[in-house]
Parts: sequence; structure tokens; C-alpha cells
Amino acid sequence: MNTTRELPKITTHVLQEMKQKGEKIAMLTGYDYSMAKLLDEARIDVILVGDSASNVMAGHNTTLPITLDQMIYHASSVARGVERALVIVDLPFGTYQGNSKEALNSAIRIMKESAANAVKMEGGEEILESIDRILSAGIPVMGHLGLTPQSINKFGTYIVRATEAAEAEKLKNDAKLLEKAGCFGIVLEKIPSKLAGEVTNSISIPTIGIGAGADVDGQVLVLHDMLGINQDFSPRFLRRYHNLHDEMINSFESYINDVKEMKFPNKKEQY
Ligand code: KIV
Repeated sequence: MNTTRELPKITTHVLQEMKQKGEKIAMLTGYDYSMAKLLDEARIDVILVGDSASNVMAGHNTTLPITLDQMIYHASSVARGVERALVIVDLPFGTYQGNSKEALNSAIRIMKESAANAVKMEGGEEILESIDRILSAGIPVMGHLGLTPQSINKFGTYIVRATEAAEAEKLKNDAKLLEKAGCFGIVLEKIPSKLAGEVTNSISIPTIGIGAGADVDGQVLVLHDMLGINQDFSPRFLRRYHNLHDEMINSFESYINDVKEMKFPNKKEQY
């Protein structure tokens, strides 16, 4: 099969071609150099430097506290580990919503200081001015609709979004607006799979789902969740590909025992 795996570098145009060919897009989050290198070696299509770093890397309860400087630190670490994958970076909460000039400055800082390839922003119609301004500076933008965690204080809960007709209509309309504005793709988070399928069929740019079912153009998961490092988070949509939590605890316990029982280092492990 002729897939994009043979291509040297994934670009936003490659993602567009993948949608046209019906080839699914595999995306995972990444926050640091070593993991990014492994993800790229495994030939992931897209690495999202998500503001979920606020949760999984920094231990916050929400994505709101992470700063632009912290996102740039994560993004530049990831970009240094990647040769092939497309690297997309979340614009953090408070750096783009109210003021399109500030939004442009935030996006420019990410692109200049991290060498990433694109930015992602949560929201539809209400942030169009910021999206337009960033796009006009030649920076590719991915949208994010449905459950948008930066709005958790408005939603009050992380339950499935757009189950009611009015919210579903707004989401469909927002997807069209993002496509028209020139976004290269849209993340659809935690919405009914039927709605995600309808949105996917109604626009020409790729949709990447998380908790949005199978009728989308690609999937994304948070790295720490899919590796089973984080055992506290078990939504229905999450498939764990490993139980790294237990494997890591076992390794740490073995090391601690070896040190305490003076089994490490042995004769061969010293100078
Ligand atoms: O920050 C993040 O990890 C995300 C994904 C859940 C899509 O936005």
C-alpha cells in the first residue's frame, strides 16, 4: 500500500492529502525531547504539544495555569526530537481569546522560539478574528471544537458536549467557519460520534477525534493516558496500549531494593 509513511516530512498539505485518500491520521501528544524522538521513530504523523502538559507534566487540575513560556519550553524540546512528524502547539489559555494582536504575538513567539510547525486554538466564531490574524501571518492553525478544556469553568464539567440540538448546530457552523477561515484541520473532542461523522463529511479539512468515535479523519490521545502511566483517568474513549504505571513502579522498586541491599552497583558496574 502506498501510504504517507514513505514521505520524508509530514506537512499540513500531507494531512489534506491523507483525508482525500481516506488514510487515517495518527496523532499523540508529546511534551519532551526523548518521547518526541520515540514517537517520531515509530512514525507518528502528528505530535501535539498539548496544554494537557499542564495536567500530566505539571500536576495542575486544569489546562488553565500553563503559560506561554512553559508551552514554548515543551514545544522546543519536542521539535528538537522530531524529523518527520508535524508538530502542533496549543496556544495556552489567555494568550489569544480577547485580543487578536496578542494572539498573533503569542503564535509568532511559539513559531520563532520553538521551531514547531503550527498552532492549535480552542473555539469557533468567537475567536475568528484571532485565527484570521494568525493565518494572515503565514502560521497554520488547527481548530478545536466540542469539549474545549480551557472553558471548563464555563462548562462546569467534562461530560460529552453537543448532545443538544442547539450546541450541535453551533458546532457544525463553527466547523464550517474554521474551514472557510483557512484552518488546516479541527480537533473534535468528546462529542457524539454521529455528529463527528456529519462534521467530517461536511468539510474538506481533516478532523481529528478524541472521544468522537470512528467517523473522523484521525485520532488523538494523551500520551500518558494511552501508555497507562496515569491510572486515575479512565473515560470510555481511552484505550490503554500499555500498563507503564505498573512496569515503572516495579523498576523503581527493584532499583530501591538493589541499592538498599547493596546489589547495585556490582563489580562490573564500577571503575
Ligand atoms: O491538550 C491536549 O492534549 C489536547 C488534546 C486532548 C486534543 O488538546
